[in-house]
Amino acid sequence: IAGKECPAKGADESSAGERRVLCVGLVCLDIINVVDQFPLEDSDSRCVSQRWQRGGNASNSCSVLSLLGSSCSFMGSLSPGPVSDFIVADFSRLLIDCSNLVWVSGSTPVACCIVCPSNGTRTVVLSDTNLPDVSLDNFRKVDLSCFHWVHFEGRNAAEQVQMIQQVALFNTSVPHSDRVCVSVEIEKTRDELYQLFPLGDMVFVSKDVAQSLGFHSARAAVTGLYPRVRPGSTLICAWAELGADANKDGVLFHSDAFPPEKLVDTLGAGDTFNAAVIHTLSRGGGLQEALSFGCRVAGAKCGFHGYEDIA
Ligand code: ADP
Ligand code: FRU
Repeated sequence: IAGKECPAKGADESSAGERRVLCVGLVCLDIINVVDQFPLEDSDSRCVSQRWQRGGNASNSCSVLSLLGSSCSFMGSLSPGPVSDFIVADFSRLLIDCSNLVWVSGSTPVACCIVCPSNGTRTVVLSDTNLPDVSLDNFRKVDLSCFHWVHFEGRNAAEQVQMIQQVALFNTSVPHSDRVCVSVEIEKTRDELYQLFPLGDMVFVSKDVAQSLGFHSARAAVTGLYPRVRPGSTLICAWAELGADANKDGVLFHSDAFPPEKLVDTLGAGDTFNAAVIHTLSRGGGLQEALSFGCRVAGAKCGFHGYEDIA
């Protein structure tokens, strides 16, 4: 789109003007300990390996989008210091635009993660109370004409409702072809987040939330929770090794999972799935294709550490 000052993809690339996917949500540092056996409480053991990795759902989804070839931007809060230096360097390494980062004082969230390949678990303890979330005022400064898709990781939902209204308002001012699609992830079992159900063109609801609301399968969840979403929108629920289901206006879709030969690292499988679905749909793919691709990429991701091998 000529004349728009959207940020270039990377220092040496000239994708200025290309409309992107914007992911709004958490970025944190993941300190990942890979163990061969999950440790006993109050024990003192050695891990097999340890690494620092940029984490947070929206941030991980950006990594996957970028590795799949979708231009994307991250919007979330960071506090200046060595942790955010690591994070920003990693964003730029993966050509993820950071011009919408919100700088605040406090301490950048850090998660201690234990990845246990022998049983396929990832256990996370996150310190995430120190930084204010992206506010409506921050979001108002975003040039929405740079984006064709905005994905919200449900966090400060009351304010995110108003951000989504901003997008809706923007959409009334542009031709149909320039409208911005909105997706919402409802992952945590917090009542406050459930007000986001009716707001996305696409809603990702997690297995945890579905179970806490009384559903025992992805299919039951996308059927039983559909009355909560806006008619015409798409509700998607991923269910780990059982794949994922979707519902659009009563038409149901399913993909089986694509288990890797050996489970290695399930941390961020859901973020990978969401990104691969958004990648497919934002390029004009169909819902069945998106669901299958989401499961294929997320399943493959469970077979290696981190995200890099997605590319
Ligand atoms: P998370 O708990 O990371 O949010 P989910 O467990 O809901 O993510 O899984 C998201 C997707 O990742 C699933 O739909 C599936 O395609 C894939 N996935 C997750 N765990 C496995 C697994 N053990 N084997 C194969 N695929 C998996
Ligand atoms: C994976 C993840 C990690 C982070 C945690 C936050 O989905 O985003 O990167 O530590 O979840 O809940």
